[in-house]
Formats: sequence, C-alpha cells, structure tokens
Amino acid sequence: MTEQLPTAAAYDAVAVRYAEFARNELDALVLDRALLAAFAELVRTDGAGPVAELGCGPGRVTAHLRDLGLDVFGVDVSPVMIDLAREAYRDLRFEVGSMEALELADDALHGVVSWYSVIHAAPQDVPAYFAEFRRVLAPGGHLLLAFFESEGEPVTAFDHQVTTAYRWPIDDLADLARAAGFAEVGRMLREPREGERHRRGHLLLRGATEQR
Ligand SMILES: C[S@@+](CC[C@H](N)C(=O)[O-])C[C@H]1O[C@@H](n2cnc3c(N)ncnc32)[C@H](O)[C@@H]1O
Repeated sequence: MTEQLPTAAAYDAVAVRYAEFARNELDALVLDRALLAAFAELVRTDGAGPVAELGCGPGRVTAHLRDLGLDVFGVDVSPVMIDLAREAYRDLRFEVGSMEALELADDALHGVVSWYSVIHAAPQDVPAYFAEFRRVLAPGGHLLLAFFESEGEPVTAFDHQVTTAYRWPIDDLADLARAAGFAEVGRMLREPREGERHRRGHLLLRGATEQR
C-alpha cells in the first residue's frame, strides 16, 4: 500500500494542476454559488466583519466571496497553494496555517468557510476542528461547510485523488457541529454532476449567541 503523504505535501505536489482545474469550476455550479451567496448575505446583514476561508487552496472561493462583498482572507496548510493564491489574487490576503490551530484571537471572525477542506480530517479529529472554528467566530457568526456526502453509508474513507478523504452522513456532521456550539441554519444536498463521483453535502450554521 502506498503511504499517504501528509496533507500539505500532497497538495503542494498537485497545486498547479488543481488550481487550473478549479479556477472556473464555480461558473457551472449554480447551487453551490447560491449557497455561497446566501452565506455572504447573512454575514453582510450581520454587519459584515472579517471572514476566513480555511483550506482555501488556490483561492478561487476566497476571491468569489470577495466578489460577493465580504472582507475575506484565506488560510491553507499547503505553502504552494498559498503562493498560487497570492499570485492569482494580489488584492487578497492568504496565509499558510493549519485550521486546527489558527493564529487568530477568540471571536476574531464573523464568518468561516470550509469548502472541501475538513474532508481530509480523520473523523475523530473533526470535533477539535469545529471547536477551533467556534473559538475564532464571534457569537452569532456563520460557518459554511462543503463536503462529500456518504449516501446512506456511515462515515467512510475514499480514494480522493490527492490524499485520503472522508465522505460523511450529513446528519453526523450536523450533530458534531451542534455539539461544538453551532445551530443549523440550513443544508443542501447536490447530486453529482457529470464527471463527479459523489453526492455533495453543505451545511450552513450559526454560532451560539450566548457568551462562552
Ligand atoms: C479540496 S482542496 C479545496 C481548496 C479550496 N477550498 C477550493 O475549493 O478550491 C482542500 C484544501 O484544504 C487544505 N487543507 C487540508 N487540511 C488542512 C488543514 N488542516 N489546515 C489548512 N488547510 C488544510 C489543503 O491543503 C487543500 O488546499
């Protein structure tokens, strides 16, 4: 069996190809864009404030959120991805960092987007990721998750093209988010398009408004 590269090295190795593949992908994804727009509107309605895309890769979602009027920056564990993002979107801030230990103060953000980035966390580690998202989000801040849905199966590893990833029952991820202090605002399942293998899951959540 081939040993899995750590996530950062695995994404470093494919970053250029991934960036080319992903650059204009959102143009065709009507439902995905609708959800990103809903997230952006909720953050703007709450008074805007800083938003982070965690696991931003080449920055195309970060740039899309900027176009939707958000004050947004990106964080990724892959230095090559961050170099590509900085090069492509010179007006935006991108930082190398790990989303399970963010260099951000408590309550620093009004929004967090994890667009297919928690997918690489081992299932037992996901509660700690959600706790970190909750820590950096101000009370009432919004969290948007996109992931591969498991279509009736329990959480399961699959042969993602870059490195091991997990498909999740949407209810299980919603339960973990709730346990971390998030309330569900809404959810969306999208069937795979041509060329895609798995159903897509999306959860829109809001951090509890009471003091921690
Ligand atoms: C499938 S890509 C998605 C990239 C981007 N969100 C997009 O949609 O184009 C997953 C990204 O998450 C990053 N990532 C995975 N685990 C991470 C972690 N613990 N902290 C920060 N970034 C991480 C990877 O380096 C990779 O760039």
